[in-house]
Amino acid sequence: MIRILALTGLLTLLLASSPAVAAADTANARGLLNALGCKGCHLLQGQGGHLAPELDRVGSHMTRERLSLMFRKPDQPAHDLTFLAEPDRASLVDFLAGLTQPAPAFSQPSPGTANESNP
Ligand code: HEC
Repeated sequence: MIRILALTGLLTLLLASSPAVAAADTANARGLLNALGCKGCHLLQGQGGHLAPELDRVGSHMTRERLSLMFRKPDQPAHDLTFLAEPDRASLVDFLAGLTQPAPAFSQPSPGTANESNP
């Protein structure tokens, strides 16, 4: 049920957001990652689960082609993005391929702030 609601929300998001312009692409990709529940398993920039590899540097060892293939010929249901419109899948792939280093806020935690939650 939750999944159906999430998909309904996602479809609304997709209809409202395409065609995506380049500047809006990152926001679109982030929205997709949230709407698709990727963070249920993956950690991204300090948010999400620990069941799967964190995605912060995934672009440093996976090419666009490999990422794209992974979502078109998925290894598991959670990675099946064949239902997405091609421009949205491409914006997600571009975003992930561009993740080559951790977000600055998490790469150098300053002493004394480690236990404070990020605003
Ligand atoms: C049910 C848990 C789960 C969900 C939800 C999930 N994944 Fe994954 N993901 C995994 C697991 C486990 C792996 C490691 C094994 C593998 O490659 O399949 C993985 C691997 C990956 C990798 C390769 C990471 C690497 O460093 O090799 C990428 C990229 C990825 N997932 C993206 C996504 C995206 C994007 C979504 C949302 C559409 C998503 N995943 C949703 C469990 C999940």
